[in-house]
Amino acid sequence: MSGSAFAAARIVTCDPARPGTLGILDDGAVVVEDGRVAFVGPRAEAPAGVTLVELGDRVVTPGLVDAHTHACWIGSRHDEYALRMSGGDYRDIAGSGGGILSTYRAVASATAQELVDVLSARLRRMASLGVTTVEVKSGYGLEAAHERKQLASIALASARDDVPAVVATLLALHALPPAAGDRAAYVSRVVDELVPEVARGGLARFVDAYVDTNAFTIEEARAVAKAATSAGLGVRLHAGQFADIGAAELAASVGAASVDHLEHVSPAGIDALARAGVAVVLLPVSSFTLAQPAPPVPSLRDAGIPLVVASDANPGTAPTESLPLAMALAVRTYGLSPEEALLGATRHAASSLGLEDRGVLREGARADLVAWDLPHEYAIVQPWGVAKPCFVLVNGRAI
Ligand code: NIG
Ligand code: FE
Repeated sequence: MSGSAFAAARIVTCDPARPGTLGILDDGAVVVEDGRVAFVGPRAEAPAGVTLVELGDRVVTPGLVDAHTHACWIGSRHDEYALRMSGGDYRDIAGSGGGILSTYRAVASATAQELVDVLSARLRRMASLGVTTVEVKSGYGLEAAHERKQLASIALASARDDVPAVVATLLALHALPPAAGDRAAYVSRVVDELVPEVARGGLARFVDAYVDTNAFTIEEARAVAKAATSAGLGVRLHAGQFADIGAAELAASVGAASVDHLEHVSPAGIDALARAGVAVVLLPVSSFTLAQPAPPVPSLRDAGIPLVVASDANPGTAPTESLPLAMALAVRTYGLSPEEALLGATRHAASSLGLEDRGVLREGARADLVAWDLPHEYAIVQPWGVAKPCFVLVNGRAI
C-alpha cells in the first residue's frame, strides 16, 4: 500500500491545527507518497489525478505509539502470577529473587538470536493491534554484557521491515543483579561506563531508572540521569509506582522527557512536572494488575500535563502486548475520555519520545496510520479485547 491514496468516512487526524479535540475530518482523503503523508483533507480537495481507494465507513487514525514497554523479554512468570493472585506480594516475590530477577535469569541465559526472535514476533503482534512505533527498554540484562546483548537484539529486531519503528531505552537501574556485589559500584559502572558506551554505540535514545522504595534512590537516579544528559540521551523515569519518594521533582529538575506510572505523587510534584513540561506516561494495566490506586488524573489534567497512555508490556506487572487494552483501562479505571486515551496513544506519546513527525496525520508526517474496521474511534476502547485494523501502514508500507 505504498504510494497509496484512500478516502474514508472519518479521518481522525489528532492534528491540533484542526478544529475539535481529535481534529476529525468527515469524508476525508489521505494520500501517501514515499513514506510520507502528501495530502490529508476533504475528499473534494484531494489532488487531481489521484485514484482514491474507498474505505467506506471505516475510521482512519494515526498509527498508535506505545511509549513504554519491556517487550524484550523471554521465559514465563505464570507461576509468580498465580502466587500473586492467591495473596503473594509483588515486592516480596521480587525480594526473594523472583520478579525482575526471574526474567533477568531467562534473558541472561538466552542467546541474542533467541531474544531477536521472541521480540520480532511480539512486535509483529503489536503491529496487528494498530501499533506503529514502540519504545522498548532493556532492564532484564542488568549486567553490562547482558544489557548490551538486549540492546543489540532490540536493534536487530527493529531492522526487520515487517515490524513497527522502535525506540530503545537503557534501563540498567531496574534491579540490582545478583552478581553486582557492592550496590554503589554497580551504579557507578552504569553511570561512568555503560551509559556513555551505549550512547557512543547509538544503542539507545533514552535512559530510564526505576525510582521507588523497593528500587533505586533519588540520588542514584539523579547520577544516571546526569550521565544520560551529558551523553546526549533523554531521560524517562519509573516513578511513584508504590510510593512517592520525590521522583516527580527529580524528573522535573533533570529535564526528563517523561515520568511513568505516578500512582503516588504530591501536589508539589505535579506542579514541578507542569512547570518543567514533563509528560506523564500512564500505565493502567500495571496498576490494575497490582491493585494500585489510579494516579491523580484530574490534578494532572488541570495542571495541563500531557497524558500519555502505554502498555508497559512485561511479564510481571503488565502481562499484555496490547496498547488498545491499556487505552480501554485508561478510560475505565483512570477516567480518561476516549479522546484523551487516543491522544495519549498517538500525538502525546510520539511527542514524549521526541518524535514530532508522527502521532498526527498531517502533510509531511511519516505515513504511519491505521484503517480500522470500526464504526467510530470510540470503538477502539470499547469493546475490549479485540482490535480490528483492516490495514496498518508503517512508513507508508503495509505490514
Ligand atoms: O513497569 N516496576 C518496574 N518495572 C516494570 C515491571 C517489570 C517486571 O516485573 O518484570 C513495571 O511495572
Ligand atoms: Fe515499566
